[in-house]
Amino acid sequence: MITDELIAKIQEKADIVQIISSYINVIKKGNSYVAICPFHADHDPSLHISKSKQIYKCFVCGSGGNVFTFVSEYEHISFMDAVRKVAEMIGFTDPLLNKPTRVINEGTKKILDVLKASNEIYQYLLKSNDGVKAKKYLESRNIPLEKQEYFGLGFSSSNPELPIKLLRNKGFDIEEISNAGILARQNDSFIDRFNNRLIFPIYNEFNDVVGFSGRKIEDNDEAKYVNSPNTIVFNKSKVIYNYQNAKNEAKREQRVYVTEGFMDVFALYEAGIRCAVALMGTAFTQYHAKLLKKLNVEIVLCLDGDNAGQKAMIKAGEVLEKEGIDYKVVNYKECTLDPDEILQKYGKDILFKFLNRIIDKNDFIYNFLKKQYDTTTLNGRKMFAEALIPHISNTTNVLEKEMLIDKVCKETGIDKKVYQSLISNNIVDTHIDFNTLYVKGNQRRTIKNLELLQSEVAYFMLTNNEAIDVYKEQGAYFFDKIYDYLANYIIDLYETKGEFSTSELITSLSQSNSDYSKKVITLVTDLLETTRFNPEYNKEYMLEYLDRMKKQIIKKNRDNQFYNSIDGKTEKEKALICQKYFDEGKEQN
Ligand code: CTP
Ligand code: MN
Repeated sequence: MITDELIAKIQEKADIVQIISSYINVIKKGNSYVAICPFHADHDPSLHISKSKQIYKCFVCGSGGNVFTFVSEYEHISFMDAVRKVAEMIGFTDPLLNKPTRVINEGTKKILDVLKASNEIYQYLLKSNDGVKAKKYLESRNIPLEKQEYFGLGFSSSNPELPIKLLRNKGFDIEEISNAGILARQNDSFIDRFNNRLIFPIYNEFNDVVGFSGRKIEDNDEAKYVNSPNTIVFNKSKVIYNYQNAKNEAKREQRVYVTEGFMDVFALYEAGIRCAVALMGTAFTQYHAKLLKKLNVEIVLCLDGDNAGQKAMIKAGEVLEKEGIDYKVVNYKECTLDPDEILQKYGKDILFKFLNRIIDKNDFIYNFLKKQYDTTTLNGRKMFAEALIPHISNTTNVLEKEMLIDKVCKETGIDKKVYQSLISNNIVDTHIDFNTLYVKGNQRRTIKNLELLQSEVAYFMLTNNEAIDVYKEQGAYFFDKIYDYLANYIIDLYETKGEFSTSELITSLSQSNSDYSKKVITLVTDLLETTRFNPEYNKEYMLEYLDRMKKQIIKKNRDNQFYNSIDGKTEKEKALICQKYFDEGKEQN
């Protein structure tokens, strides 16, 4: 166990500039240090390293953190491993740093054993007489023996009790079999939940079988697939089909294809592409994104060509984007088939060519959104331009951003300056008072915008302990969950230690290793390192900002309530509600 004290000790001895310099070229520029950012395709040095604060921040891609997060991100290793690594680099030793061997507890081990044994039984049953009809089915779907073996396909007997009996013969008891997610009950007997189905074993990244999916082989009205339930080792939204194989293949190809289903993975295999995985029909989650990120290769989305598949691809893109992961997309153009259908219809050569028709995420999103609107009409063009704003705002690469803006403006005829100003504030709904946002020079701005108010208050709390006291005294709160979370975190650290430092905050956040903590770290480094026009902490400003923030939150809650209350109402009812809303608003101003 590595304790907080130990981490603090290492942090104290390690110098962020030195550690980062051992990975990349760091240049001294006046009092600060800069480098080409290793976390995005950087050309000018945009990574800034602060020796005094012991943090780094990239002004282009937004990544930031302390010495441990840098090593963890750069080396693609866990936070604790990064702590060990930094300790090693500075020659710091402590017995507590020794790595515990990967422990699998007894219960988990048992489940994995049951699953492994089941897999062997299913594979044996496919080869037995019992498996003849499954073999016929495989033949009808053009899945030859070699592929069956590569993917470890099996068959769960047409005798529903047989696989369970075979497992019991191997010494597993009913409870153990049940924990592994194999069992179903039928009246008084225990049966196999995958009964009479073709079996697809599902592996984790360590090559253990963690679950199964069973496809029906007869044309009846039962569910097409039956999957393992969630168990200690299986959760559909956390595993990716064929990851264990694709892991190595992807390194060779420097690419991984993400498809929707088993049959698509098989189709790509047929076309000579083995670096393919499938989501098994579920939504793409952050866990999926993390697994793929670990491969450290180009991610190519290739979900189905129909509208649902393309929408799912947009959604998956958003998840990847949130995790800061770049991706590409197979260009379906007008094709609405899935990879397996393309294979069956046109053959493997065409499929191969199709799979190499890869476009950039920006082109994909642009084309997709354009198809959703009628850009021959004024309103359609407006809606199209608006729909792209969140994406363009999130685009960190300056050139990509510029090209997108240019393209949208050419397409829609919107003035570039107007569009740019909407984007820099990510404004889809143009109700915000622009005068409060743009004040030039060094003077203090009268900030009304809630987002800005929140960032000012949070900045104060990060840089001055008195601000934390004031925040507590005033019983203040933020509107956005992430700020509220940050504030509580700061208060908690401050109260337990009696003082507060941002570096400790980052260390503490990094250890939870959740995506949310990552976002909070990004926010913290953003707040600390982005150029601000406003003065440093001062109690008067703090009180003023807290007051404004409170008013804004009340207003925002009222607005939200208003929008909810007119939802689904008739025009007449809406008119009445609106009237009341504006009258109340007048009284308050
Ligand atoms: N799926 C599932 N349960 C279902 C349908 C689908 O779990 N009732 C999952 C499976 O993992 C499947 C994936 O979603 O592979 C994609 O679904 P689909 O495209 O319908 O299945 P295919 O794999 O293409 O199978 P087939 O070609 O046999 O229809
Ligand atoms: Mn399919």
